[in-house]
Amino acid sequence: MARRDLPSRVLIVGLGLIGGSLAAALRAAGFGAAEGRTAGFGAAEDRTAGFGAAEGRTAGFGAAEDRTAGFGAAEDRTAGFGAAEKRAEILACDPDAEEIARGVELGLIDRGDTRLTSLLDGVDLVVLAVPVLAMREVMAELAAGLGRAAANLVITDVGSTKGAIREAAVAAFGELPANLVLGHPIAGSEKSGVAAANPELYAGHKVILTPEPGTDSDAVARVRVLWETAGAEVLEMDVERHDEVLARTSHLPHLLAFSLVDTLARQDERLEIFRYAAGGFRDFTRIAGSDPVMWRDIFVANRDAVLHALDDFEDGVARLREAVERGDTDAMLATFDRASHARHYFDSLLNQTSYQAEYQMQAQDQLRYRVSPGGGVSGRIRVPGDKSISHRSIMLGALAEGVTEVSGFLEGEDSLATLQAFREMGVAIEGPHQGRVTVHGVGLHGLKAPAGPLYVGNAGTAMRLFAGLLAGQAFDTELTGDVSLTKRPMGRVADPLREMGAVIETAEGGRPPLRIKGGQPLKGIDYDMPMASAQVKSCLLLAGLYAEGETRVREPAPTRDHTERMLNGFGYKVERQGDTCWLQGGGELAAAPIDVPSDISSATFFLVAAAITPGADLVLEHVGINPTRIGVINILQQMGADLRLENQREVGGEPVADLHIRYAPLKGIDIPVDQVPLAIDEFPALFVAAANAEGTTRLREAAELRVKESDRLKAMADGLAVLGVENRLYEDGIDIVGRAEGQGGDGPSYGGGRIDSLGDHRIAMAFSVAALRASDEIVIDDCANVATSFPGFVTLARRVGLSLEEEREAS
Ligand code: S3P
Repeated sequence: MARRDLPSRVLIVGLGLIGGSLAAALRAAGFGAAEGRTAGFGAAEDRTAGFGAAEGRTAGFGAAEDRTAGFGAAEDRTAGFGAAEKRAEILACDPDAEEIARGVELGLIDRGDTRLTSLLDGVDLVVLAVPVLAMREVMAELAAGLGRAAANLVITDVGSTKGAIREAAVAAFGELPANLVLGHPIAGSEKSGVAAANPELYAGHKVILTPEPGTDSDAVARVRVLWETAGAEVLEMDVERHDEVLARTSHLPHLLAFSLVDTLARQDERLEIFRYAAGGFRDFTRIAGSDPVMWRDIFVANRDAVLHALDDFEDGVARLREAVERGDTDAMLATFDRASHARHYFDSLLNQTSYQAEYQMQAQDQLRYRVSPGGGVSGRIRVPGDKSISHRSIMLGALAEGVTEVSGFLEGEDSLATLQAFREMGVAIEGPHQGRVTVHGVGLHGLKAPAGPLYVGNAGTAMRLFAGLLAGQAFDTELTGDVSLTKRPMGRVADPLREMGAVIETAEGGRPPLRIKGGQPLKGIDYDMPMASAQVKSCLLLAGLYAEGETRVREPAPTRDHTERMLNGFGYKVERQGDTCWLQGGGELAAAPIDVPSDISSATFFLVAAAITPGADLVLEHVGINPTRIGVINILQQMGADLRLENQREVGGEPVADLHIRYAPLKGIDIPVDQVPLAIDEFPALFVAAANAEGTTRLREAAELRVKESDRLKAMADGLAVLGVENRLYEDGIDIVGRAEGQGGDGPSYGGGRIDSLGDHRIAMAFSVAALRASDEIVIDDCANVATSFPGFVTLARRVGLSLEEEREAS
């Protein structure tokens, strides 16, 4: 903050809670503190009594020995933050002389008066903090006395509505003065009066400034400095937008709180009612204790915007009333779900954490699994929905024309991040509720600019697929993620997207965040993917929807094809010949129902659990067995697992089956290279199978594992070493030495120990399963991210026979 930007004499007109708190905050920041004052609101250390009496003060409103006039006037003091040649001062004007006296007494202001003109001499910043309807009169008085103020005077206000105050200013000054910067601190309290002044009232809160095209930019800069000194974050917005936003977020809730309390208070048995009113009533109605005059003024001043907000609210209440009347539980749940998610999201914005992080924080800080050695594996279970398909169901549902009903949706943090991102881009999404989601598609061109960066947490799939579809939008976006995602390579999508004409900025090394410029015409390309990645392929196909001409992608090895299948299911033709698929831009998607099968990647942990545990017999129901995902089945069968596919069928364009697995001794194999992309997410669990197999298992051409949620080759090698499993790491793979030949029987395969999952969900789950054949307990740190892909893992693991305890520790 540049010292020259600080005013030296601030005049606050209207010394109530808002004006008084600004004075308090400036004092707390050291502004205008008198010599010897050290803390608080500029209060002298050694004050003893009286109204603001400093040493030697005897009488009057804060008059010092050498003070001559007014309330607590001093002259030409030099010390204090922000002092130029003359000492920084805070003056106040208020029609209530007692408020001024109290302000001086509290050390918040230096002096004050009930008349404005007598205070204007040399003032260089005026803050109008009077009720909205008093603004016109105060401005007229100010206009009349302006000649006495400093030449570089800046005027600002704190009113809760801006349109009416702008009108008042034009009426008072004849035109909108260039040195008037209208503003509104989004902070307050139901308390009023200077006695309630709080130096922290603005700390971390937002202040909205609404400068006009003709407003002097230096004046704006100085008002900014003022609020930043008070600890606030300053934003700019135009007057109309401000009034609409505030009508909805502040004025409407106040109106409802006033009305509810009034309605209840009028009922005869009100005493009884209030006596039993609990937290819900208190939380909802706290603001009904606010200043009535101030709020009357606000509703007069912002009448039209408030009425619009009230109309929308009444429609919503009418819909809910009808649902309650009809006993329509689905409609009630859809509304409550939407609201509850939105409320959590709002909390996270306030706390400046992510939506997902907010959820996570409720459950963890540090989540640790403690898994006892041994246990059996049996039963029939259904693991949650497929993560890849869940992401895509929301994405394509949102971009489609019509309503998409999704069932089996994975309510994990990754796919919820995708869902939330679309809500932020204006898509109405009901649910999820028990796997059911209703997406009200907006069409390929119906998304709206989100208010801020889109946070996708741990989800690489979300970030990479979003990159493609956001490159085709008319608006700018920014994609961010958690610590793990921030380390993952995004150049693999940014580079080909740039070839298509997209404008994308990444952080160093092609890492997130991604800043994507909207409104760029895209053209189709013919792309030869350097790595086998379904995410890159899908990203380009999604961008291709918006591109002119044909977008073709060639893959060096088959990768999951859910995007192509789902696009075809939505009536958007994707063609394939051999290793290349392509589509034409400019079409339309038609909504279609989606039944998400269980995730084979989640099922894998239980397949391996059963495969390594003597006596195991387990059925995993309704698992997706898309040919591009069944590497794990092929590999386990090749290792000797007794694994059968039962009840095979097709559901909504994806093949599914019940997987029936019984224990059979495993043997080590060289994993066929063509199976690697088909089992890419399953290797952490497969390495545990390898540690229990007889002989050595070798994996190569799997360098992609190094850029997953963690470096999975290293994370697994380190963890296996802790258990005493011999292994050798290669740049693109690993050798794992399993049980020695002849070391038969049902005994343990390795020891126990403490494992760092590095926050990688699949590492955490793989080592949980490993405990079934360990000689000792396995403790796994940093397990909270299991919730990204497999909510309910612990419950299911216990149900089949693992002994797994969760421990939480606040970090
Ligand atoms: C995914 C593709 C794979 C996989 C990831 C999900 C997808 O990543 O590892 O968990 O949904 O497209 P790559 O495309 O980077 O191999």
